[in-house]
Amino acid sequence: MADVNLRITDRAGEVRTISAHAGDVLMQVLRDQIDLTLGTCGGAISCGTCLVRLSPGWLGMLPAPSVDEAEMLEALSAGADCRLSCQLVLGSAADGQQATLVAAE
Ligand code: FES
Repeated sequence: MADVNLRITDRAGEVRTISAHAGDVLMQVLRDQIDLTLGTCGGAISCGTCLVRLSPGWLGMLPAPSVDEAEMLEALSAGADCRLSCQLVLGSAADGQQATLVAAE
């Protein structure tokens, strides 16, 4: 049973509501339900294709990025509101939050 509903803006600008479970990795959910082209490194923090921009409410409830994630975010020149979705495990508190897929360069 889905227990985390998210509003995701895809790379075409379309807002979509997706459902997941607490404990799911956000990148895998996005890959399965929205865009098969993201997450090409499988979560090894080496591709950067899973970059998402999070709503302030969601961003504020997350722990700080790991050193490896922070280095990748810097290499991508990602904004302060961006995270790698492969490093985000969904908790029930994420229910109702919003994110935007960042366009690949
Ligand atoms: S899946 Fe490659 S960096 Fe996240």
